[in-house]
Amino acid sequence: MPTAYDDISLAYQVVHGELTVKKHAEEFTYLNLLGDVQGKTVLDLACGEGRFSRTIKRQGARQVVGVDISAGMIELARQAEKQRPLGISYIHSDVAALGTIGSFDMVSAAFLFNYAASKEALLALCRTAYNNLKAGGQLVASINATPLFPPRNDQATRKYGYLVHSPSPLHEGDAVEYAFFTGSHAIRLFNVHWSRATYEWALREAGFGACRWQSPTVSQQGLEQHGDEFWRDFLREPNFICLGACRT
Ligand SMILES: C[S@@+](CC[C@H](N)C(=O)[O-])C[C@H]1O[C@@H](n2cnc3c(N)ncnc32)[C@H](O)[C@@H]1O
Repeated sequence: MPTAYDDISLAYQVVHGELTVKKHAEEFTYLNLLGDVQGKTVLDLACGEGRFSRTIKRQGARQVVGVDISAGMIELARQAEKQRPLGISYIHSDVAALGTIGSFDMVSAAFLFNYAASKEALLALCRTAYNNLKAGGQLVASINATPLFPPRNDQATRKYGYLVHSPSPLHEGDAVEYAFFTGSHAIRLFNVHWSRATYEWALREAGFGACRWQSPTVSQQGLEQHGDEFWRDFLREPNFICLGACRT
């Protein structure tokens, strides 16, 4: 079945490759939270076109498996693998329907949970993450429509290459619209807002131990290139948040 990402897969790849905020804040924060992947087995849920799958494998992971519901995104990931083989395998599947395919050291879920259309759907995604981890294994995730910072509906984020549109006041399950743009490409995404309590409930219900929330940080290079003032608005109200949780 076609998904929203099939139509924007190429533009998504370009936009994410070019946006300053992606490189210096989002990837930087996420990869720091993933930490040392040397020798580890990693399941990358909602891998998209494989940007984190490839980085994780290049950083020395022993095995990386990427999963995504979008045929277009998986096709791009497989093309990249064909052009520069890293030994990553990609599965075209809904994470909720994946079942248990292994006992991984780590599960990565970058911008997956904010696609859950209901609390039950969120729980199903968390259960897949849990069931594919070995005891002591780590889940690392990033989330848009963040439960910790209310999405901003103003123009202050234009300088970062994105705008947000969300209902005010924002309720559980509401759609938050993001427009990301560079000089040449633009994409529009809709994510679902869930509260911090709902995320923590779903993770706990799936079996995870305490959840650790991680606000974005900016790389030294990003600070030097753009200056503290450039990052001030973003750091005060970032558009995403990361979390880590452990299978006990
Ligand atoms: C914003 S992209 C993130 C891709 C990649 N993790 C990254 O950070 O570049 C969100 C991805 O989640 C995928 N996705 C959404 N719901 C999914 C589900 N239930 N199962 C698998 N993939 C899903 C979409 O197809 C899309 O590729």
